[in-house]
Amino acid sequence: MKIADLFNVESYGVIVTGGASGIGLGYAEALAANGARVTILDVHAQRVENETRRLQGAGLDVRGQVVDVTDHKALDAVLDEAARVYGRLDVVFANAGIDPGAGFIGGWPGAERPRVPEGAFENYTDERWNRLIEVNLNGVFATVRAAVRHMKPRKSGRIIITTSLASTRIEPAIGAAYMAAKAGIKNLMRSVALELAAYNITVNAIAPGYIVTNIGDGHAHNPIEQKAVARTIPMHRVGFPADMQGLALFLASHASDYITGQEIIVDGGQGLGEAD
Ligand SMILES: NC(=O)c1ccc[n+]([C@@H]2O[C@H](COP(=O)([O-])OP(=O)(O)OC[C@H]3O[C@@H](n4cnc5c(N)ncnc54)[C@H](O)[C@@H]3O)[C@@H](O)[C@H]2O)c1
Repeated sequence: MKIADLFNVESYGVIVTGGASGIGLGYAEALAANGARVTILDVHAQRVENETRRLQGAGLDVRGQVVDVTDHKALDAVLDEAARVYGRLDVVFANAGIDPGAGFIGGWPGAERPRVPEGAFENYTDERWNRLIEVNLNGVFATVRAAVRHMKPRKSGRIIITTSLASTRIEPAIGAAYMAAKAGIKNLMRSVALELAAYNITVNAIAPGYIVTNIGDGHAHNPIEQKAVARTIPMHRVGFPADMQGLALFLASHASDYITGQEIIVDGGQGLGEAD
């Protein structure tokens, strides 16, 4: 068996929600650069246009569609259309997610961490709670359901959900609804994996630690914050979307054929605790 055959995703039909930025864009690039046909779905129209054009300019088979994962009918329609264009859907990344800010602590690891009244649980508004759950939990439900409708009849497919280190380790700077949603999709992943194993569909999760992306207004691009956070990470550096790409290819390809219902954490050891 050659490694290149094991990880081959040539001509696969792939969907990535939240694919126009950060981790999702990294997944899209990794798959497309290895010959997959990739549809980027994202609510941010300008990013969809820019990134689709950039990747097409690099000779990759990428198309983009503007869709909000909270609009389940629209999501169904764009997955149907992508399946029509490709003839099949091999891999669906349920990745779109938001961080609406203000947890109960107002600073990232490594920095000063004062309590923040706005993020305190007694002040958590229904609006913030529901918005987060609508995107990060219900949006993943709708994405996975749309994927299953295409994959089950073919008895083949890969579903990859972006959870978070926060599905097991609480990050107080982010807030309670995010913790609840990420733990929710982790167990949703396990439930769907069990249900669909008999149909040769694997369902796994990638749980990122601290990755520099545009989430939460792009706070992670701040080099002072990166330096402070890096002090708390056993590998002494923050992560980047490129750190996620190898695992994405692994879970999308035959290399992971017999693995389902697993969450794999990519965090430089942050979840283990602090060392030096
Ligand atoms: N960056 C991190 O440190 C980190 C850590 C753990 C988990 N995650 C998770 O990774 C995933 C990707 O986040 P990222 O860090 O790459 O952020 P990002 O903001 O760079 O990218 C997320 C993309 O999702 C899109 N999006 C947001 N809401 C959407 C909606 N309703 N419908 C469609 N698209 C929508 C955004 O427009 C954006 O382009 C999220 O689920 C996030 O919770 C990120």
